[in-house]
Parts: sequence; C-alpha cells; structure tokens
Amino acid sequence: MKSLIVYYSRYGNTARVADLISDVLRKKGEANIAEIEYRDKRQNLLKRTFYRFFPMFVRLATIKSDLKEYDLFCVGIPVWGGRPSAPVTKYLLLTKGVAGKKALCFYIYSFKASAQRCSEYVESLLKKKGLSAVANVFVHWDDVGNEVFLNKEISEALAKISQ
Ligand SMILES: Cc1cc2nc3c(=O)[nH]c(=O)nc-3n(C[C@H](O)[C@H](O)[C@H](O)COP(=O)(O)O)c2cc1C
Repeated sequence: MKSLIVYYSRYGNTARVADLISDVLRKKGEANIAEIEYRDKRQNLLKRTFYRFFPMFVRLATIKSDLKEYDLFCVGIPVWGGRPSAPVTKYLLLTKGVAGKKALCFYIYSFKASAQRCSEYVESLLKKKGLSAVANVFVHWDDVGNEVFLNKEISEALAKISQ
C-alpha cells in the first residue's frame, strides 16, 4: 500500500501526529509525507481570519496535489475557528486523482464539538471529490504525545477503511 500524509501545522502538534502516522504506515508499505505551507509564511492574525472565511484565496507553497499514485490519503487538520486551518481547505480544493480513494483525516483540536463540526465540513468536501471512504481520528492537543492512545485510534481508523 502506498500512502501520502499531508498536514498543516502552525504550532507543531499536527506535525507530531503526522510523523507517528507515517511511522505506522511505513510498516505497511511506502509512505510519503508532505507539509502544506503558505507561500508567504508571514501571515498575521487578520489575514488568517480572512482566510478562515475565504480559504480559496490562500496561496500555498508548491506541494504535490495529484494523488493518483496513492492508495491512501491522510490529512492532518488543525481545527481553527471550527473549520480546518485554511491552508488545508485550500489544499483539499486543489487535489486531483482522489476519486475512489480512501482517506484518513486526523484532527487536532481543543473542543471536541468544534472538531466534529469541522469533520462534517471536510467529509462533505471529500465526498464531492468522490472519495470512497473516510475515517477520522480526533486528537485533543493534550494527547499529541500519548502514543498508546494514538496507536489505538490510528489502527482502529485504518481497520475501518480497510474493510
Ligand atoms: C487562533 C486559534 C483558534 C483555534 N480555534 C479552534 C477551534 O475553533 N476549535 C478547536 O477545537 N480548536 C481550536 N484551536 C486549537 C487548535 O486546533 C490547536 O491549537 C491545534 O493543536 C493546533 O495545531 P498545530 O499545533 O499543529 O498548529 C485554535 C487555536 C488557535 C491558536
């Protein structure tokens, strides 16, 4: 199985979980990891708030967006204002070659209800792109270093989409 893990991380929590998922997936096959970044890294709060409502205007640094060679697509999503951090949404809008593929979305959050709302938004976006199955892993930011918890949640999510 060939997997791609993409993530955005401003404060490093999502990056930590992405690294762990990539370690797990490397035991099952090939796994590539890529960080979503703003083209211009100096984004102030005003701009980031604007992008929260208008993610289509985000300009991303170059990143692979044609995923046809991958079997599994994993997305690391910091929840921001009840939505994915805007660079993630922009990336999801750009992706190609995902129809019929499986996705694992992992959300780093501080409020569960907010992360759940965010996941509904992401799932509807991914369904429009034709993904066949989506599994979610919700990680409170207190748990990003809790490898026992993470390994359990990740293996349950992978089992769900392998059926
Ligand atoms: C400005 C700001 C807004 C946030 N908004 C939300 C939110 O709406 N819901 C939520 O569950 N967590 C929210 N969080 C918490 C982030 O999801 C959490 O800090 C996450 O770990 C950030 O990921 P990162 O360290 O990879 O950047 C917010 C954090 C910040 C700094």
